[in-house]
Order: sequence, then structure tokens, then C-alpha cells
Amino acid sequence: MRAVGTVHRDYKISTIDPRLYGSFVEHLGRAVYTGIYEPDHPTADENGMRQDVIDLVRELDVPVVRYPGGNFVSAYNWEDGIGPKEERPVRLDLAWHTSESNQVGIHEFADWAKAANTEMMLAVNLGSRGLDEARAFLEYVNHPGGSYWSDLRRKNGREEPWNVKLWCLGNEMDGPWQIGQKTAEEYGRVAFETAKAMRAFDKSIELVVCGSSSPKMPTYPAWEATVLDYTYDSVDYISLHMYFENHAGDTAAYLAQNARLDDYIETIASVIKVTKAKKRSKKDVYISFDEWNVWYHSNEADRKVLEGRDGWPHAPELLEDIYNFEDVLQVGCILNTFIRRADVVKVGCLAQLVNVIAPIMTVPGGPAWRQTTYYPYLFASRYGRGTSYQLSIDCPAYSTDFAEAVPYLDVSAVESDTDGALTLFIVNRHETDAIALDVALEGFGDRKVIMDKVIAGHALKAVNGPDQQPVAPVDGSGVTIESGRLTGEIAPLSYRMIRLG
Ligand code: AHR
Repeated sequence: MRAVGTVHRDYKISTIDPRLYGSFVEHLGRAVYTGIYEPDHPTADENGMRQDVIDLVRELDVPVVRYPGGNFVSAYNWEDGIGPKEERPVRLDLAWHTSESNQVGIHEFADWAKAANTEMMLAVNLGSRGLDEARAFLEYVNHPGGSYWSDLRRKNGREEPWNVKLWCLGNEMDGPWQIGQKTAEEYGRVAFETAKAMRAFDKSIELVVCGSSSPKMPTYPAWEATVLDYTYDSVDYISLHMYFENHAGDTAAYLAQNARLDDYIETIASVIKVTKAKKRSKKDVYISFDEWNVWYHSNEADRKVLEGRDGWPHAPELLEDIYNFEDVLQVGCILNTFIRRADVVKVGCLAQLVNVIAPIMTVPGGPAWRQTTYYPYLFASRYGRGTSYQLSIDCPAYSTDFAEAVPYLDVSAVESDTDGALTLFIVNRHETDAIALDVALEGFGDRKVIMDKVIAGHALKAVNGPDQQPVAPVDGSGVTIESGRLTGEIAPLSYRMIRLG
């Protein structure tokens, strides 16, 4: 099998916003407690944050982390998480039926974000609360001083404002599971008024309005059209969420699901365009894909916990998907889609970062370890920043019941804005056959292979764990460049990253 194509320096897709490789920490399960925060852990820093987790987050070079939810935010009082820790209330979290100790709040999270070398992306509660809470929270976080909320922050030990730029106007407000779910009209009005108030405080902040929580929602995509009708000129991004699953155990169909993702992005990009034209607006709105991941391995275990409703546990194990090798390929394909759609998707958040559907897992009191999906995320985050290029590749393809002509090779290309390297991210979805790749490099000058990493040859269901992580990248070989053509063999069911310097 052969795949023949071209990448041409004149055919750029877009500059990639580094925030495409963001992530998400929610007060859910063990993401915060025994995830990022564990004061008794041997590696805990002076704030009680696990240094071993911080080291992994720094290794991933996560540009931005969304916080504090998720479903959690829709009944959250941010004021519960400020002031002396011993005075903070324990609350019942209605989203996940757990107890929230509030030992971590905005101050602790901000310190953690600084230590982890990442920016904060904060969500306001538009479920159980609204505009007034949002403006108070913004003033607390971003105002230098001399006002009620900013002086309270200073009294609580933080002199300087954090100057958070990116704010989410609620979370998944279309979802019946959401505390304070709204119709598109109700939400559109509230989001518009909240945006107006937040912008009256600071015009330069960036606002994300909620789109559909999934393309499976009955209100999709009319929801986006209505919400943008109210908010188009007041917001910068519309958020989309999508999770992937392989309950059917059908690898070919599973790995074709980024065709659905593509369609979702394309549809909402069209809604944005129509709204822009309708409003005769000069500004652009982009997509913040602020929740995406594989999520299904833990469904049954979670059902037992959530349906059993055994009291209100604090930080129980929830959504602890253990990822396998097949998921490496899936995450590679999803990231490729985002790179190819970097013209409209500017922010992306792998949901989530620690313990909850996450690339990083922790053992309470024990080690932090890398899941299989850590690696495609690591490579995209570290080497996928710069400019994305169009690739025209003629490749054998297959069909599923939801997508025609799915190419066996899923490829994206990025030229780095730091070292100029051209990086190809490749997934071979073919279950038995290697594919001979032959790509003409037009206008990129003389190049040689400076890095070649591959994850291949594992059983599809192979997983990592706290003691052993067998699913990890190794050096690839056999790729050559002659007369401006890159050639090499891409193994069946493999993830590959090839960097050309
Ligand atoms: O990421 C887990 C949950 O998925 C989030 O809380 C919610 O926004 C989504 O439904």
C-alpha cells in the first residue's frame, strides 16, 4: 500500500494558537484532591501541591488550563474557596454528588498554575448564579486594588491581580444534566448581559460562550445559531465539547470518528460565518474546543458510584479511564484534526489533566504516572506550535456507516515557529498493512530527519499503570529524504512523529 503526497510551503492553513494544546482541571473525582493537591504527599510543595504532578504538567508544556469546571461550576460559589482554609465551608456538589472541602480555591489554583508554567482559563457560574457573581469574581481576580473585591483578594494574601485573559460564560448550558440548564434564548440573553458587564470592567478580556455540549444534542446546531445571534459581537469564541468511545469494540469505526469531529467543526464554522454576515459584523468569532477526549472506559464503574449515591464522598474515584494503545491512535487523529482546522479552532482543552479522563494519573501517597495518551498530547504540545500546512495525500481509504473515504493515513504538518522544523504527525489506521509514505517537500529547502518517534506494535488493549508503562514512544527508523522527497514505511496501527530540520 502506498500514500503519495505533497506539502508545499505556499499552502498554509493558519498560524496555530498555542492554546490549542490546553487542558482542564475540574473539582471532580480526584482531579484536585489527591491529584494536583495532596498536602501529605512526599513531594508536596509549601502549598500542598504535588511536585511530581507539576513536573509532568511542565513536561507537557500545557499552555492554558480551564478551571474550576465543567459541570461543577454550575453550582459553585467561588467565594467558598477564599480566606482562611479552616473557615471554608464544606458544600455538597450537586454535579458529581460529592462533598467539596474548598481547601483548593482560586488562590491555590493560581499558585499551582504558576508553578506548572501554565495560564488560567476561568469559568463563571451561569447555572445557579449569574451576572453579579461573574462581575465580582472578575473584579476579585483582575482588579489591582481600591475596590471591595480586589481589596478582599489583597487581604487574603495576593497583592497583585492575576490578570486572567480567557473567561468561559458558564458550562454546557444546553445539557439537561446541568444545574440551571437554559434554553438557547434564555442562555443567549444571560450570556449577552454577562459579557456586557464583564466588558464594562475590561474590554480586553476574551470571552467564550457555550455552544453545544455534543453534536448529539437535539438542539445542535440551532443552539449555536440562537446563542450567537444574541452574543456575536460580545464574545470571542464559542465552545464545543466532544468525547469519543469504542463501546462497540470496532477499531476501524472508532478510529474514523475524527470525521465526525471535522463535520462538527465545519458546521459550527458555517454558523459563525452566517451569523457574521447576518450582523454585518467586522469581527471574527472562533471555536474554543474546550473539552475533548476519549471517555468510556470508566462508564460502568461511574454508573455504580453515581447511581448508588452512597453518601457524599470527598474526592472519590470518578471518570478514571485507563487508556490503551488504541486510544493513542484516536488521540493522535483528534489532534491532527485540530491542527488541520487551526484556522477556526484557536483554543483546545484536553479534558482533563489529572486522574479524571486524564493523561496523568496519581496514586495517593505514591507515584504519578503517564497514561498511554500522554504521548500524542506531549508531542503535539511540544512540536505542534507554529504554522499548519495543507497536505495533499493520495492514500487508500475505507468507509464506515457514518463516513466515506476515510484515508488509512491521518496526517498533519506543522512548521515550528521556534526552530523552523517541519513536523509530520501520522497515524496509520490500517489494522494489518504498513503503508509506504512518499511526500514531496516543496519549498522547504534541504531537510534531514532530526527526530523520529513511533508508538506501535502493542496489543490494542495494552495499558500503562503505576508500576509499568510499556506503551511509550521509541525511536523510529528507515525514513529518508532524497531529492526533496520523504519516504518511509508507516507500520500498521501506529502513531508516528517525524521532525525535519
Ligand atoms: O469533563 C467531564 C464533564 O464532561 C464536564 O464536567 C462536563 O462539562 C462534561 O459533560
